[in-house]
Amino acid sequence: MDASDPLAHFRSRFCFPKTKTGEECIYLCGHSLGLQPKTTAACINQDLQDWAELGVEGHFHGKNPWMPYHRLLTNQTAALVGAKPSEVVVMNSLTVNLHLMMVSFYRPTAQRHKILVERGAFPSDQYAVRSQIQFHGFDPAASLLELTPRTGESSMRDEDIEAIIDREGDSIALILLGGVNYATGQLFDLAAVTQAGHHRGCIVGFDLAHAAGNVPLCLHDWNPDFAVWCNYKYLNGGPGCVAGCFVPERHARAQLPRFAGWWGHDEATRFQMSPDFHPMPGAEGWQLSNPPILALAPLRASLEIFAEAGMDRLREKSVDLTGYMEFLLDQPASAKFSIITPHDPERRGAQLSIRISQNGRSVCDRLASQGVIGDWREPDTFRVAAVPLYNSFRDVYRFVQNLVSALS
Ligand SMILES: Cc1ncc(COP(=O)(O)O)c(C=O)c1O
Repeated sequence: MDASDPLAHFRSRFCFPKTKTGEECIYLCGHSLGLQPKTTAACINQDLQDWAELGVEGHFHGKNPWMPYHRLLTNQTAALVGAKPSEVVVMNSLTVNLHLMMVSFYRPTAQRHKILVERGAFPSDQYAVRSQIQFHGFDPAASLLELTPRTGESSMRDEDIEAIIDREGDSIALILLGGVNYATGQLFDLAAVTQAGHHRGCIVGFDLAHAAGNVPLCLHDWNPDFAVWCNYKYLNGGPGCVAGCFVPERHARAQLPRFAGWWGHDEATRFQMSPDFHPMPGAEGWQLSNPPILALAPLRASLEIFAEAGMDRLREKSVDLTGYMEFLLDQPASAKFSIITPHDPERRGAQLSIRISQNGRSVCDRLASQGVIGDWREPDTFRVAAVPLYNSFRDVYRFVQNLVSALS
């Protein structure tokens, strides 16, 4: 499979962490922090050099002038999430963008005040939604509605999600789902959820932290009201990299309430320094501050690689890699672990979540000491992702051998 893999050569464009003896690690942690492209340093250095040589003039006369710098990322970002360029912007960090979107799109009333989330959503999302509910004077005990798998199951069933939206729709102000759940790796049917939510008059938003760069997305066609994601996992933009945000064009010129900042103000009049805020049309109208150029630079390196590889080809390889890992893990048929990620490739991305019944943490630590990098999520889950840009089928094979040996 490696010999006939048309994407195999991309591996050599990434920096792999090394073991103490100097061998490349088996790195299966792209769901947490993607690897560094070898071109990243040059991108940052170019901007450092412009700053050194030009000072403030770098805003207009740098090799990549800082004033419109964030737009260097717009077309590739839009292509990755299936949006029009005017519908996306790279800004802030993920939780900040989630709050900004909720300021505009979570407008609870006495009748329609609930937020529907998946149980076990990433903690930052849980804190964000609870604090938004409280900010509006409501009580999370009454206003937070959680999707829960059936007893004995780890994933939500599509029909149960639709049923709860149908049943509770009148009181739901916002449906907020992770595109891929961070713990189980379940990929939700985002088109169906959006349709079901809109049918019942709900606003629908997605946290795509574990979906962007992992699975193909068609945000414009699926038509949610907003989406946010980070760029440091599958998108390899580096730790804490600036995040992404999608607002569909139907909301572009709406007079939506928002928390405003000068970088969201119409650029034609921004430097007139008037106190009246006139937002840019489109997602850019939610920007607050002038962007951190040195934190955007790594994303240029990464998105160029994505554009070359193409999301469709990456997904094709990803399905094979993850399927191969599942196949190998099924061989030992061990009672010591089970895969809690859905078996159906349509309902998952690259990640497999492996529930280890005993001593899982020490198994994970032992693997790490051997240069096999996944990550542990309490109480019992070992998460691994074979990332099609830089992982090989051989990585997957060696990982399973190491895991089985560590477990025994
Ligand atoms: C699903 C999800 N949401 C939110 C966050 C928080 O991201 P940030 O720290 O960039 O705000 C993470 C971080 O891993 C995440 O996985």
